[in-house]
Amino acid sequence: MRDVADVNAVEGLIDPRIYADPELYQLELERVFARSWLFLAHESQLPEAGSFVQTYMGEDPVLVVRQRDGSVQAFLNQCRHRGMRICRADEGTKKVFTCSYHGWGYDLAGNLVSVPEQQRAYRDRIDKSKWGATRVPRITTYRGLVFGTWSDDVPEFVEYLGDMAYYLDATFDRYDGGIELVPGPSRWVIDCNWKFAAEQFAADMYHAPFSHASGIVAMLEPGQAGPAFGPGRQFAGNGHGSGSFWLEEFGPNPYYGPEFSEWQIANRDEVYRRIGVDRAHKVNSHNTVFPNFSWLGMENTQTLRVWHPRGPGQLEVWAWTYVPKEAPPEVKDAIREYNQFLFTPAGVFETDDGENWTEIQTVLRGWKARQNAFNVQMGLGFEERDTHGLPGRSNDAFSETAARGFYQRWRDLMLDRSWPEIAKLDAERLAAEEVRSA
Ligand code: FES
Ligand code: FE2
Repeated sequence: MRDVADVNAVEGLIDPRIYADPELYQLELERVFARSWLFLAHESQLPEAGSFVQTYMGEDPVLVVRQRDGSVQAFLNQCRHRGMRICRADEGTKKVFTCSYHGWGYDLAGNLVSVPEQQRAYRDRIDKSKWGATRVPRITTYRGLVFGTWSDDVPEFVEYLGDMAYYLDATFDRYDGGIELVPGPSRWVIDCNWKFAAEQFAADMYHAPFSHASGIVAMLEPGQAGPAFGPGRQFAGNGHGSGSFWLEEFGPNPYYGPEFSEWQIANRDEVYRRIGVDRAHKVNSHNTVFPNFSWLGMENTQTLRVWHPRGPGQLEVWAWTYVPKEAPPEVKDAIREYNQFLFTPAGVFETDDGENWTEIQTVLRGWKARQNAFNVQMGLGFEERDTHGLPGRSNDAFSETAARGFYQRWRDLMLDRSWPEIAKLDAERLAAEEVRSA
């Protein structure tokens, strides 16, 4: 790989060809996507036996299905006869999945259960047990989020999350009733490499006051001050990243309107009990679980999304608004409407980000433009650990600590290092690092 393109996370240098090279992209599908835990669905999408959704693991289409025993299984959405998609619907409820080409039928777990004209066409000599859909071998559900992996050596999901669990729980474990997705994701295509989006959600608060300046100014009332971008921190570990604003007060919400504020104040003790006062005030965050699952859990944004890769120069975004499951309808509506306003394809902030990423990708069509390293050095050498009572490697909110961590993990996987090898390397890196404590 090194003679094609590489990253140097230690010095904060990125070869821009990692965003544009078709061969590297194929390697990414094999070594990054097929060897990591990938988000498949939220449990609220699978309410009963036979409920299913179609999604992707990298570019591989998969069906995620609630079984009769309540468990969730997933399998490649590819018929074993001639490779047709077994199910073409995005979501729904089924007893059997029937391929639309020649009619092979698969049960909820992907076992082949019926073959048309089995006697005449196969002289009854087909062993159906050998021709089931390709099963996703490892599935886990964490705080209602279903993840799957093709890898047999990636650590268990909780270990894979590491310190990131603290930030994930802040959003997905904050209510007794949990959260649910507003049905019907927004889906759109952005002509840029998936890593621009995943890295930004992991690490980039720095772009916000600049890229989103016009939106921020337009939303202010006359005389109102803009948001303060501090104090805030950025956190990293295992390729994941999180960054937070700190709230002076947890309760009143200037964005979602009075019904939401009232409801949040009434439920404040529940949140404090579940995630602690400190976390409720300090974790108001943008996040990526490596490689391509992101969410915003901020005062004005509840969006959860997957960046599905579509070739080196394209990604497909699937974004949902999530809401507290037990909140009254007017509170859910307030969140949904504000999220539509900010973070859907025509959202005030969403368009700023896509516009920048698309332009970068267009510039990378040039040859000369792919020769110079990008600078990922912000805050390099100023990393701390577990400061302010918050776990992980941390740094100022305006830093690229989490970006370097993201690319470090990307590089580990692209070099085909095994997960045990990566764990060993991480321990050595930690020991070697000059750690400052607050
Ligand atoms: Fe599915 Fe032929 S491709 S039955
Ligand atoms: Fe942004």
